[in-house]
Amino acid sequence: MLSPTQTTVLTDRPEDLARAGALLAAGALVAFPTETVYGLGADATNPEAIARLYAAKGRPHFNPLIAHVARTEEAFALGDFPPEARILAEAFWPGPLTLVVPARAGSPVCELARAGLDSVAIRVPDHPVARAILQAAGRPVAAPSANRSGHVSASNARHVEEDLAGRIAALVDGGATPIGVESTIVGCLGGVITLLRPGGIPREAIEAKLGRALEAASTDAGKPLAPGRLSSHYAPQHGVRLNATALRPGEAYLGFGSAEPGGAEPVAAMNLSQTGDLAEAASRLYGCLRTLDSLPSAGIAVAPLPGTGLGEAIQDRLLRAAAPREAPESVAPATLAKGA
Ligand code: TXA
Ligand code: MG
Repeated sequence: MLSPTQTTVLTDRPEDLARAGALLAAGALVAFPTETVYGLGADATNPEAIARLYAAKGRPHFNPLIAHVARTEEAFALGDFPPEARILAEAFWPGPLTLVVPARAGSPVCELARAGLDSVAIRVPDHPVARAILQAAGRPVAAPSANRSGHVSASNARHVEEDLAGRIAALVDGGATPIGVESTIVGCLGGVITLLRPGGIPREAIEAKLGRALEAASTDAGKPLAPGRLSSHYAPQHGVRLNATALRPGEAYLGFGSAEPGGAEPVAAMNLSQTGDLAEAASRLYGCLRTLDSLPSAGIAVAPLPGTGLGEAIQDRLLRAAAPREAPESVAPATLAKGA
């Protein structure tokens, strides 16, 4: 059972960032902004802190976490990077890319944070607040998105408070996160380079760097984990209907671009990007979903969006927001690696 905690709200001033780092080093849970979404940090080397993190999020223990470090050289000490992983690390770090590589023998990232896997997910974020906190913590910090498991991710401090106030020691308010969707996750295991989750770095940019196409993530039980695939993970309370060009009575509308939908009048309407800009749409996605979900409606109808560039990550999150809710028992454990 989680005992209630007073959550301290910290600013992005240097003394507060030093305090956030010290809290993490002492085993406390601290939410902070990254360039993608807010993360909920815990000392990745401390199994007790990681156990508290899983409890605060309500996240299944078999869903592994991403270890965040301030510098690329620190990342290289946590895992065995094959040549392709090094190329991607050097091209895209710091930035919204997570690499899954074999864990180094004696890797300081504890087994609980890796959910017992012999691989480890690593990211060097590109956000001044995140980097200062990681520097001050002086150790790898596990940081899943700072939302309750199954909820939409948090792209500003208010979203984090809605989900986690009273469950974590501190929240660093560093404003809205610039990218708005999570990092792209690339698996570099056994010579196969796999797109495990589309995200803030478009597939096309990664494939251009590698000079070849990324493999698709397997969804078979027993195969390497496919994080967040096939799950109703980014789940609003209301039903979500995709590619809507005509509205049904009582629906709220989430538009993209300037085209007006046909059909009924929406009960509420927001637009991801009036000008059809995918970067703007990504940065507004979770905020718009949270707002529309808080209003009464018969469901949320979403306009068609392109599936290329950042559109692939947006589509992926919308597809999961629209997915039928799964009964957890019906899914084999190996496929249950939801992007919680
Ligand atoms: O942008 C992001 O990546 C954010 C910010 C806070 O950095 N973090 C984030 O973490 O999205 P989370 O925990 O919500 O999603 C991490 C995903 C999960 O789907 C998990 O299954 C997957 O990464 N993952 C972690 N370790 C893995 C591993 N060893 N093999 C395969 N998937 C792994
Ligand atoms: Mg998540």
